[in-house]
Amino acid sequence: MAKIKFQGVEKRFGDVVVVEDLDFTIADREFFTFVGPSGCGKSTILNMIAGLADLSKGTIYFDETPVNGLSPGERDISMVFQSYALYPHMSIYENIAFPLRVKKQSAEVIDAEIKKLATLLGLETLLQRKPRELSGGQRQRVALGRAIIRRPRVFLMDEPLSNLDARLRIEMRAELKKLHENLQITTVYVTHDQEEAMVLSDRIAVVYQGKIQQCGHPMEVYARPMNLFVANFIGSPQINVIDGSLLKGLPAFDHVLKRFEYVDVVCGMRPTDLIFSAQNDGATLEGEVLLLEETGSDTWVDMLWKGVKIKGRARSGEEIVPGGRAFFDIPIDKVHLFDKDNKQRLSF
Ligand SMILES: Nc1ncnc2c1ncn2[C@@H]1O[C@H](COP(=O)(O)OP(=O)(O)O)[C@@H](O)[C@H]1O
Ligand SMILES: [Mg+2]
Repeated sequence: MAKIKFQGVEKRFGDVVVVEDLDFTIADREFFTFVGPSGCGKSTILNMIAGLADLSKGTIYFDETPVNGLSPGERDISMVFQSYALYPHMSIYENIAFPLRVKKQSAEVIDAEIKKLATLLGLETLLQRKPRELSGGQRQRVALGRAIIRRPRVFLMDEPLSNLDARLRIEMRAELKKLHENLQITTVYVTHDQEEAMVLSDRIAVVYQGKIQQCGHPMEVYARPMNLFVANFIGSPQINVIDGSLLKGLPAFDHVLKRFEYVDVVCGMRPTDLIFSAQNDGATLEGEVLLLEETGSDTWVDMLWKGVKIKGRARSGEEIVPGGRAFFDIPIDKVHLFDKDNKQRLSF
């Protein structure tokens, strides 16, 4: 097991900088996730940790040892990809055994390890089959088994659940979390799916255009996005964003006006923080209901308010109807303010 330290890491392809300013440490035993849109540099970061891509600048350390010059094999890592990369002609048993055969372990040791892993991963009855005889979810379990059996210092996972259907993805992510709790191996995970990142991780790093925009505990990032990109990317349904001007006289935001000359802001409000009701029982704001979305547990309401579309939640038991009016207040302590020019967070 190991902590992983990045020091001034940068990656260029030719003249194009695709990853820059990586300066931070993933703790020993941590489940750490890089999350961001496609093309933002996640796989490149993971490949640099793995030794599959060179660094253009800087150093990566495993514990106190620089690993820049080490091959993937010498780094003692295991990697799981979106495509399962199993050997098609080998049985499941032999696929999982492979890393130990390479290490010249005895047949008895290998057999004992495989029995243990097969139980852990629910593969007991499938060991004699070939990969093509397994479902996608089962194949990904085999890929995990093959990664685990070596007991590496570090697990690297690049979108390992992206090929699975929605339901299986949710099931597998719970298994991954359990697996990490059991094995306590430092895990670096990559996904474009913010919900997956939130659910799995001890900490997340939100990546955009090759830079870490924010790094922290998932709930901390959700509750206090440090710029507009993070606010938009993390959270489902997506945060409401409204351009506006901040006027003096709102005590909650006086600190913002004190520090800055101007008052043009972008205002973010999460749909979960806006509660719409059909009755006006003293609410200060109202708008026209455009659309309802029932998810079973929640009813999301799209509303037109002062010419802007915003999404909120219907108060339970309320008869809100499209075309009708709905009433609400804005909880001022749940409002996120961003600088209109540089998009950085203004409110505390
Ligand atoms: N071998 C390469 N040569 C040139 N550009 C590359 C290469 N690999 C990746 N890139 C570019 O680097 C950027 C980051 O890619 P990648 O790390 O794969 O993103 P992600 O995994 O977040 O989707 C992209 O713009 C991609 O086109
Ligand atoms: Mg990728």
